[in-house]
Amino acid sequence: MAASSLFSAAVRRLEGKVAIITGGASGIGECTARIFTRHGAKVVIADIQDDLAKSVCNDIGPESASFVHCDVTKEGDVKNVVDTTVSKFGKLDIMFNNAGILGGDAKPDILDNDISEFEQVFRVNVAGVFLGTKHAARMMKPARRGSIINTASICSVTGGVASHAYTSSKHGVLGLTRNAAVELGQYGIRVNCVSPYLVPTPLAKNFFKMDDEECLNVYKNLKGANLEPVDVAASALFLASDESKYVSGHSLIIDGGFTITNCGFSIFGQDEMNE
Ligand SMILES: NC(=O)c1ccc[n+]([C@@H]2O[C@H](COP(=O)([O-])OP(=O)(O)OC[C@H]3O[C@@H](n4cnc5c(N)ncnc54)[C@H](O)[C@@H]3O)[C@@H](O)[C@H]2O)c1
Repeated sequence: MAASSLFSAAVRRLEGKVAIITGGASGIGECTARIFTRHGAKVVIADIQDDLAKSVCNDIGPESASFVHCDVTKEGDVKNVVDTTVSKFGKLDIMFNNAGILGGDAKPDILDNDISEFEQVFRVNVAGVFLGTKHAARMMKPARRGSIINTASICSVTGGVASHAYTSSKHGVLGLTRNAAVELGQYGIRVNCVSPYLVPTPLAKNFFKMDDEECLNVYKNLKGANLEPVDVAASALFLASDESKYVSGHSLIIDGGFTITNCGFSIFGQDEMNE
């Protein structure tokens, strides 16, 4: 099935489900909000970009998508978005803890890295996922079902392609995903993460100072396909739906094979791999 066909769903894979998407105003979260609603879910976008989030909700259709302001670093905000969702729809089936930041400009020398920037990346990327997991679990435990999906990254399993703060934060997201899956599995709740390679979103383009074309053309192993937000949304759709009912504690790596090889040493030809 071509990824674009997910937007015109013949089979609605999330019919009747209720989802919260943090960071749903832009990039991967926005695309996922569009796909989840096409598949029958009611989606609540939780973000700090109020105007952008409201325009995304209007575009999707207010009957399917709504917005609640939420800074994922603030426990009161996270509690509020979960409580508001459950009071409006009666339940919470899917929590997509997707909001994340890369931090300030890339500073390759650790001596130039500020602890305040480091801590802010951890607050959003790790504490934000912790709070989303905690408050989703508050609703999902009594219901004895639910799917929690976190956005990690290839930086959860490899070093050297982002800052110390970002790489260690995404390793943290993977650890938290596994720990939460062990605890919450006892209540029928699945916890997984998606781990994408470079996706042309505002986050990546601003940080790496690249346009769409440059983002799509950075080193990759798999030829003939480009990684776009819809590919990450498709993976989140699978993990959110009942099709993945026995998948928990898993990191779904979406990287065209980037993390399984070393371009500097391969019997298959370095030149061809770098083309
Ligand atoms: N783009 C990539 O190359 C890439 C690769 C791997 C993983 N990721 C991860 O994907 C996720 C989504 O990023 P994206 O690429 O779509 O970027 P994006 O900047 O387009 O979207 C991120 C969204 O998160 C929101 N956000 C930031 N801080 C927040 C906070 N404190 N509270 C609530 N919302 C907040 C932003 O307002 C924005 O709408 C992030 O976790 C990121 O680390 C991105």
